[in-house]
Amino acid sequence: MRFELNEILNIGEKNGFAIPAFNVYTMENVLGVMNAAQETGSPVIFQMYSRLFGTQVGKFLAPVILEAINELKTPAAFHIDHGTGEDMVIRAIRYGATGAMIDASTLPLQENISKTKRVVEFATAAGISVEGELGHIGNTAEEISSEYTNVDDAVQYVEQTSVKALAIMVGTAHGKYKQTPKLAIDRIAQIHAATDAHLVLHGGSGVPDEQIKQAINAGIRKINFATDLAHAFIDGCRELDAKKYPLDVYLAHPTEKVKEFAISKIKLCGSDKY
Ligand code: 13P
Repeated sequence: MRFELNEILNIGEKNGFAIPAFNVYTMENVLGVMNAAQETGSPVIFQMYSRLFGTQVGKFLAPVILEAINELKTPAAFHIDHGTGEDMVIRAIRYGATGAMIDASTLPLQENISKTKRVVEFATAAGISVEGELGHIGNTAEEISSEYTNVDDAVQYVEQTSVKALAIMVGTAHGKYKQTPKLAIDRIAQIHAATDAHLVLHGGSGVPDEQIKQAINAGIRKINFATDLAHAFIDGCRELDAKKYPLDVYLAHPTEKVKEFAISKIKLCGSDKY
């Protein structure tokens, strides 16, 4: 069932759980996540990284995602992750996205606000809501991580941009962690109390379960998982003898691995309680 970003995150807020957002790269990834949602009855978000909206893969994957959403009886959204600019967000809307992220988090506050605001204006006109990012969430390969999102800045950013979802820097990063992350749970709770935007945790792969649960209790409503989904798929491929099977049969195993991975994160997020 097709849901818009704010609509699906409202379900999380109402029920006190988070909606898992899975980055997908292939049709088998989409099928694995769809089957997980079907089996658990959970709402889910399918998302593609911004660059895919500029490639042949993304062009052909978008209709597969929309088909999966139509097939699902539970709420499901289609989101552009880390939109790099207006061009990619416009492309995503044309491809049927029901939510859009614009990531201007490396810019100074006022520039981030004005770039995000422009995207909110045209995305709202197109009937979808926007996720912004404040406090830069880097990747695990970087030596220095950015400062945590400031509460007052978050209030100003949400008020002036009208974003419905806000990705915050609270100690996570994208990719495989070299050291176990330690999330700033208090900061999540402070930002949750101070703003109406649904809070988003990026870099979900590798965060210990206990910390994910604490983050949800403190107010996180969307959690992104990319790296570990890709690993579930690739490990599933490696476990098989490629010469032995026709490809569709061969790919059934990694698809199942993605499903198992997605089910474990759905349960961790608590969205199977929907
Ligand atoms: P991971 O790859 O660390 O799971 O992060 C995913 C993410 O936040 C996508 O925006």
